[in-house]
Amino acid sequence: MTPDRADKSVADKTPDRIAGMFDAIAPRYDLLNHVLSAGIDRRWRARAIASLNLTGRETLLDVCAGTADVALEARRESGAARVVGVDFAGAMLRLGLSKVRSAGESGRIALVQGDAMCLPVADGCADAATVAFGIRNVQHPDVACREIARALRPGGRLAILEFGVPRLPGVSAAYLWYFRHVLPRLGRVVSGHGAAYSYLPASVATFPPPGEFMKTLVAAGFTDVRAVPLTLGVVYLYVGTKRGVARG
Ligand SMILES: C[S@@+](CC[C@H](N)C(=O)[O-])C[C@H]1O[C@@H](n2cnc3c(N)ncnc32)[C@H](O)[C@@H]1O
Repeated sequence: MTPDRADKSVADKTPDRIAGMFDAIAPRYDLLNHVLSAGIDRRWRARAIASLNLTGRETLLDVCAGTADVALEARRESGAARVVGVDFAGAMLRLGLSKVRSAGESGRIALVQGDAMCLPVADGCADAATVAFGIRNVQHPDVACREIARALRPGGRLAILEFGVPRLPGVSAAYLWYFRHVLPRLGRVVSGHGAAYSYLPASVATFPPPGEFMKTLVAAGFTDVRAVPLTLGVVYLYVGTKRGVARG
């Protein structure tokens, strides 16, 4: 795909198009995730869950839940009591459901089809919320962040993982080369879906830098917002707390 076509396709984040793209790559999504990140994606998710300081009693809302890797991670150790995962791609959710069943977690993890910009959950229903590698795909991330704030109780914790661009000059050049040249080719060969893996680097390049995205979180109703670079800034972990007085 030429840069022009990639730019146009990355600009089109209408829900039908994005959901269709994830439905198409769903069968190979987990495999590609682990291969393309050399398995580090599991550590990034574990780090996001750890940042929530869960005690085993909380309800966690996982937005852009995909194949339920965050939900399953949150149920390990002393994680969440209950997880509600929301995603609009039916094929991703179906794979997630079968993983949840295999893990014997059907009673504790519910997966619901819905849009991050209009979450199908009640106000203040969640004690904590996560979004892993989903927010850059959402058509209006500011709307999704406000929806997540609405769904969280005051004092509820948020953890968002999203790709970034490393700042160290040598690392940045190597990373961009891998991201622009190796990843799309590998993705195309394994998934058979060229556009999706050209979309990935283009969507990361157009996602706002950490300082700007933190402002979006503050405007949405979060306080104590921080951006923590992981793996030299390949990924950022954004954390925050829903504003308001927590109930005792
Ligand atoms: C890169 S995958 C990440 C999945 C999972 N969180 C993980 O860590 O593997 C992005 C997911 O976000 C979902 N998604 C993107 N935009 C969405 C939206 N507006 N509403 C709901 N789901 C969305 C896609 O369907 C896809 O399953």
